[in-house]
Amino acid sequence: SPSDPDLVERARAAKEKLGDKVFVLGHHYQRDEVIQFADVTGDSFKLARDAAARPEAEYIVFCGVHFMAESADILTSDDQKVVLPDLAAGCSMADMATAEQVAECWDVLTEAGIAEQVVPVSYMNSSADIKAFTGKHGGTICTSSNAKRALDWAFEQGEKVLFLPDQHLGRNTAVRDMGMSLDDCVVYNPHKPNGGLTADELRAAKMILWRGHCSVHGRFNLDSVNDVRERIPGVNVLVHPECKHEVVAAADYVGSTEYIIKALEAAPAGSKWAIGTELNLVRRLANRFAPEGKEIAFLDKTVCFCSTMNRIDLPHLVWALESLAEGNLVNRIEVDKETEAFAKLALERMLALP
Ligand code: 13P
Ligand code: SF4
Repeated sequence: SPSDPDLVERARAAKEKLGDKVFVLGHHYQRDEVIQFADVTGDSFKLARDAAARPEAEYIVFCGVHFMAESADILTSDDQKVVLPDLAAGCSMADMATAEQVAECWDVLTEAGIAEQVVPVSYMNSSADIKAFTGKHGGTICTSSNAKRALDWAFEQGEKVLFLPDQHLGRNTAVRDMGMSLDDCVVYNPHKPNGGLTADELRAAKMILWRGHCSVHGRFNLDSVNDVRERIPGVNVLVHPECKHEVVAAADYVGSTEYIIKALEAAPAGSKWAIGTELNLVRRLANRFAPEGKEIAFLDKTVCFCSTMNRIDLPHLVWALESLAEGNLVNRIEVDKETEAFAKLALERMLALP
């Protein structure tokens, strides 16, 4: 729906008043009404880097979800303030791994006698606590655009990887990009005693996958792929690696949101695409590339927004910008110093990956 012209004018005026003091970051899954005010847009890797690239901005307004704002706070200086326009913009996947559960898992690995061989690799989509755990135990963070490089690095440091919290990204990267088999992977279920695994199963595994998933990408299945191939003959199926393994295995191309955009930019006129990722991005891409004769469809028949990404809407953005312009610091996301130090170690290992 078109944005309310009054709110658009208020957002523009507040941003103008703040000038260089504010830097607005927008994840690709944000609404159009919000994206129009972003100084940069990107996937989670690009935004983590870009947040750190504006040291003169006093306020970083993060249009995305909570873990992204935390990462921006960790990577920016102490006097820069990161603001999340709606504090209810969390991530159900990040919530699937709590600090207590992960500490318990480490005890299970220690009991099985393998903790010393295990390197944690945590997806960006995790809380600052989980990133700190990762840093403390010699591990790295990864995103969907550098998961293979992170695993290559991790297997140089140790024999096994504990991959948190997205089992699909972990499995897809191990099997598709690293040449491992499905049997090399086990799933640790934090709701079962010992993760639902025997010590022998843990000792035999190369990849210990945390039982987390994205509620948005988890909705695509093999039928979605088969249906779209029937509906649109000649279609190229392009999906995000947070999708289930069966979907990734049946797709033609797999990659992060930034990869998806680049693939469509490079696609020839007349080509047809079905995209398996969040709907705000797919709609924006469909509109952008339609004039070039590229036909872009959503992979599934049912709509599939990320409800927490969508919580950041124009009224929340206007409220945040106007508050800052009046000198009221609202909705600041601030990670405590000890957590920040270890989480930063893990994030910096990611940023240093070749
Ligand atoms: P990327 O931005 O790394 O593609 O991740 C997608 C996502 O689900 C972000 O929450
Ligand atoms: Fe979390 Fe999935 Fe939404 Fe990304 S798309 S914020 S992983 S629920």
